[in-house]
Amino acid sequence: MRFAVIGLGQRIAAVLSALKQAGGEFTLNGYFDPAPVGLSRLQDEGIGAGEGYRSAEQLLTSGPHDLVLIGSPNHLHAEHLMLALYGRAPVFAEKPVVRTENESYALAQRLSQEETPPLYIGLVLRSAPIVREILAVVHEGHLGTIVSIDATEHLPPEHGAYLARNWRRKREWSGSFLLDKVCHDFDILAEIAGARPQRIASFGGRGIFRGDRMPSTRSYGDGSPAFEMWPGGWAATDDAFLTDANVTDHQTALVQYTNGVQLSFHANSMTALRERRWYVAGTEGTLIADLVRNTLMWRRTLETGAPYRRQFGVSESDHNGADVAMARDLLAALGNEADFPVSPFQAIEAGLTVMAIDKAQALGQVVDCTAMWTTLDAAIGAS
Ligand SMILES: NC(=O)c1ccc[n+]([C@@H]2O[C@H](COP(=O)([O-])OP(=O)(O)OC[C@H]3O[C@@H](n4cnc5c(N)ncnc54)[C@H](O)[C@@H]3O)[C@@H](O)[C@H]2O)c1
Repeated sequence: MRFAVIGLGQRIAAVLSALKQAGGEFTLNGYFDPAPVGLSRLQDEGIGAGEGYRSAEQLLTSGPHDLVLIGSPNHLHAEHLMLALYGRAPVFAEKPVVRTENESYALAQRLSQEETPPLYIGLVLRSAPIVREILAVVHEGHLGTIVSIDATEHLPPEHGAYLARNWRRKREWSGSFLLDKVCHDFDILAEIAGARPQRIASFGGRGIFRGDRMPSTRSYGDGSPAFEMWPGGWAATDDAFLTDANVTDHQTALVQYTNGVQLSFHANSMTALRERRWYVAGTEGTLIADLVRNTLMWRRTLETGAPYRRQFGVSESDHNGADVAMARDLLAALGNEADFPVSPFQAIEAGLTVMAIDKAQALGQVVDCTAMWTTLDAAIGAS
């Protein structure tokens, strides 16, 4: 297979590496990226990057390509997607699928009302073995009817500092802290809830990475430097505390879904105890998933024996093995052997959900999502 890349950053280099590990046989026709941050990783892994093109249009018309991969910063996704969808080659684009509400409606309309090539969105949690099992437990009815959910995303200091230093620090580039970081979670949580969000409240702010809260020391207990270890990527700055960031660094949200399911969510970008955990309570059972330690536990309400427990594989740098699992899913979809585990419309809904959370946070009001879903359905032609 012959691939083309728009936005050859750290993530697309990781995706190409995972595709190689998954047994994909490909070469790169070329890429468009004014300053490709991911080039050195490709060189290290013996993956030739092909020709560097001067524009996305030049790259796209240089085909034929078997897959176009888009890994530019979030504010460029809509532009790059809209161009790539004119071609015949399938498109893989990183999440969040787009950055704004209007871009979401425009993309939904384009996908549903015109002939476009297949579009796969890198919502990598969909491919994670633990998430597949969680969804199976929910869909097979072991928990009964879902009533309420509690979810968290608490990051270690290096991850938070990376967000405060790189392009994710600006709303105009990333959309928001939550849009970039947890559109994955809101995609799966809606599937678990079994409905779209109806009403949303959210609070958040900048309470961590600020000049007046700069820590007195910049090193860990073992002497290694703190807040600067992860390479910044595109448009990065040096100091996580002297930052011009305008996204939140901690945020909470309450979501009521249209079927009455309730969710509380808490995210913090600098914690000493890392956590990404979903607690799902149903009428007949309860499930706890620890997505950092990659463990799953659930039990039926009236059972008295030990809960069912499963430990999934743990690995630091590749989403606990989900990157290679997603690469396998992508290869299977390209070979017409299986559907990709998430549709672009599900990715659009996950993005819109987080945008509504950010709207509630910015306005300090409860946001009713009815108009948003009516507009989306009109764009899709479903109403
Ligand atoms: N699925 C996941 O788990 C996951 C993980 C990390 C990142 N991502 C997503 O991947 C995307 C890229 O993130 P990253 O961490 O690789 O960022 P990065 O900063 O490492 O790379 C971004 C790349 O885009 C390039 N770029 C900037 N302007 C461009 C333009 N006009 N045209 C083409 N390329 C341009 C930059 O030069 C850089 O090489 C983002 O959408 C991010 O949300 C997804």
